[in-house]
Amino acid sequence: MQGVTVVDHPLVQHKLTLMRDKNTSTAGFRQLLREIALLLTYEVTRDLDLTTRPIETPLGPMQAPILKGKKPVFASILRAGNGLLEGMLDLVPSARVAHVGIYRDPETLEPNEYYFKAPDDLEGRLVIVVDPMLATSNSASAAIEKLKERGARDIRFVCLLAAPEGIERFQAAQPGVPIITGAIDDHLNDHGYIVPGLGDAGDRLYGTK
Ligand code: URA
Repeated sequence: MQGVTVVDHPLVQHKLTLMRDKNTSTAGFRQLLREIALLLTYEVTRDLDLTTRPIETPLGPMQAPILKGKKPVFASILRAGNGLLEGMLDLVPSARVAHVGIYRDPETLEPNEYYFKAPDDLEGRLVIVVDPMLATSNSASAAIEKLKERGARDIRFVCLLAAPEGIERFQAAQPGVPIITGAIDDHLNDHGYIVPGLGDAGDRLYGTK
């Protein structure tokens, strides 16, 4: 599917299965999400530009590769996005962070924003938006619209699971924003949950149900 990368690395698929299992504990779920986040981040950053810098190794001088440009921004859609964010920051500790609080109305499934905080200079930075579940895509799209209003131009979206319906709507609303996901599941149910999915990512991450 164009514009969508499914990270089919065996470790991602193995860990995803453990996360889907309803008998996996809250602590296990949280740890696995953090671990998968590393692998998804590896994929979403694989084409970042490099430059070189002169350094001295113990054996002599070299021009050594180093990331070019401004630090990327990881934009977490609260609250489940924070579970992915932690692992991403393990891998890229110098990244800047944006938080976008979006509440999905359980009746209408429409997104309601209640919090937004981001670095001032989003223009000129790669902005990687993160939410474990791309379901209706309403929250992801609302977050991206807000980030665009604040100057973001180079945007990517990372999730753990995506529904085909969500991908279609996302691509219609946000053409040109690449999606990086661990898997594409079968469908969305009437309540906006991904099937077979893993349930409510926020509840499973924080043990709230
Ligand atoms: N959000 C979740 O946490 N799970 C879903 O299946 C869909 C949206």
